[in-house]
Amino acid sequence: MSAHLPAGRKVRYGGDYNPEQWPREVWEADHAAFDLASIDTVTLNVFSWATLQPDEDTYDFALLDAIVERAVAAGRDVVLATSTGALPPWLAHRHPEVERTDFQGRRHVYGQRHNACPSSPVYRRLSAELAGRLAERYAGTPGLVAWHVGNEYGGFDGGCWCDLCAAGFREWLRARYGTLERLNDAWNAAFWSHTFSDWEQVVPPNMLSEHWRGPDHTAFQGITLDYRRFMSDAMLANYRDEKERIRAHDATTPVTTNFMGMFRPIDYHRWAEDLDFASWDNYPPGQREHARMALAHDVMRGLKGGAPFWVMEQTPTITASRDVNPVKRPGVLRLWSWQAVAHGADAVLYFQMRQSKGACEKYHGAVLDHAGRTDTRAFREVAELGAELDALGDAVLGARTPARVALLFDWDSWWAAEMTDGFNRHARYVDTVLAYYRALWQAGAQVDVVPVTADLSRYDVVLAPMLHVLKGDVADRLEGVVARGGSVLASYWSGRADVDANAFLMDAPGPLGRLFGLRVEETDSAEPGVTNPVTLKDGAGDDAVAAASLVFEVLVPQGAEVVGTYGAEFYAGTPAVTRHRPGGHDGGEDGGEAWYVATALDDGGVAWVVRRVLGRHGLVGPYADTDDVELAVREGADGARTAFVLNHRSDAVDVAAHASGTDLLTGRAVVAGETLHLEPTDVVVLREDPPR
Ligand code: GAL
Repeated sequence: MSAHLPAGRKVRYGGDYNPEQWPREVWEADHAAFDLASIDTVTLNVFSWATLQPDEDTYDFALLDAIVERAVAAGRDVVLATSTGALPPWLAHRHPEVERTDFQGRRHVYGQRHNACPSSPVYRRLSAELAGRLAERYAGTPGLVAWHVGNEYGGFDGGCWCDLCAAGFREWLRARYGTLERLNDAWNAAFWSHTFSDWEQVVPPNMLSEHWRGPDHTAFQGITLDYRRFMSDAMLANYRDEKERIRAHDATTPVTTNFMGMFRPIDYHRWAEDLDFASWDNYPPGQREHARMALAHDVMRGLKGGAPFWVMEQTPTITASRDVNPVKRPGVLRLWSWQAVAHGADAVLYFQMRQSKGACEKYHGAVLDHAGRTDTRAFREVAELGAELDALGDAVLGARTPARVALLFDWDSWWAAEMTDGFNRHARYVDTVLAYYRALWQAGAQVDVVPVTADLSRYDVVLAPMLHVLKGDVADRLEGVVARGGSVLASYWSGRADVDANAFLMDAPGPLGRLFGLRVEETDSAEPGVTNPVTLKDGAGDDAVAAASLVFEVLVPQGAEVVGTYGAEFYAGTPAVTRHRPGGHDGGEDGGEAWYVATALDDGGVAWVVRRVLGRHGLVGPYADTDDVELAVREGADGARTAFVLNHRSDAVDVAAHASGTDLLTGRAVVAGETLHLEPTDVVVLREDPPR
């Protein structure tokens, strides 16, 4: 999938800037401070609809003109947002249909943001009109580098369940299924007498219809799965409405919207084609989420076939929306920013450039605080990072990740696995994916996180954790990986359901059974904290015992060899981890391997398995044995490799340099094997010498 990124000379640096909230004298101070911090890009106009259009018939761009002019005069590049992420009060007052109906079935009144009904014709008309007028006015503005449509689609409850959406859902279903017969079949409507005899009988699945205890408890997974797909598409239609109107006036400037990483309500793969480039907002849920952030970056990079993406937002200091909002410790902003660049970001932007005076984000961190100080620790760290990014210049712009490992990420599997009764509600999709990703990350493997439709032919290793839903020809393509000597690894609950979330009328793991050489006979579950010891034996004497939890599939091998066995319960001594060589055990060098992990192993157990899979292909990285030291690599079109060595530990560490090259941040020459000393949160950006 091709991407069209804004041109640039360096990794962009800046962020959301909302000067409409303070007097013009302050703008001067803002721009003077931005100069001190090497800020080159500002995102303007994210939430200004009420000012831009004070009533249905009036548009007023005077304030935005002044803001844009000031930014351009200061030499800043501009990302122009369309302001449609928050409704103006008059719009909701005049057309109450633009407000959402929530999952409980309550029609909302005016308030908040990110809450327009995506199916409202009035919202669609007026949001597109505003985007068009903005494009008409600002296309061609010097320094305009990107359009930012809406904001964080799907925030706030993840959707709408009103009558307009019900009508839209029926349309969507007609287009998908054509006939009620096919719809009834997809939903297995014969269960609980749900056979629909008229499209009008279909209603959105929410707390008034198919759900109880919330979004994950539905009587019909097929209905809820389709509604989520529909909602993703309905919001995508909103984005497309605006993009189309922008394109009428501006044929070339790249258009994007800011995603939220692993955000469950919206299937970003359904959107990827419509973005010119991917961008996302990085707000990790905790302070030690290095692997999770790396995974989210890789999910975002995977949207556009590995092309660079932007970090559209991150906080320089604290967020404000959590119950507890700790500050980023010294060095952490720098470390996380370089991690983003290491994973493919060509822009590192903040929310926000200056703190709001009032409302719920007034204490949210910003480059400039309420006093506009430039002598704070936070500002100093922002400015130092700005200087480093200046020094890096264009060294990694456009460079890609040379990954030989792919991890399949699938929203349908996420949705279906987490809304299915039976088994264990504590086993979660992202936790499972992250457990495997973390092991890859610690091992220093470069990973592409891709949709199930991706071309797998260029990978040596493909991981499919909890690939619950099997769609299209993915089973065949996984077989293809093994047939040409590659390795595939899947976990419990893979291959359980078809595209409609119905079970396959065959042994689990359905069409994957042949590849893994086994069948699942029973699936046991346990409360969190209950463990079953799994003994792992690799035949080379490097055995281990891992604690398994939550889900315990009882396997019957049909060609697979046993690598790990349960130690407890009535299935003690039976396989928990298997490896299948479909080409035969002595199939020679070319034979690939299919590993199956039937239970939630602890981190050590997952690492044990993943290391063996990677090891077979020489993909265990040089820092794999130093906990929390990350290696990420970007490779330019000319083959130039830049390696990022990131110390996420809270102590200093010495490692042996994996390559010779130049540290781009210090200019120092590094010789392979010499000691690299990394202080806590330290970063080395090593431009590797070309191979001789
Ligand atoms: C983002 C949002 C911004 C701001 C920020 C605060 O989700 O796009 O507008 O609210 O969070 O962390």
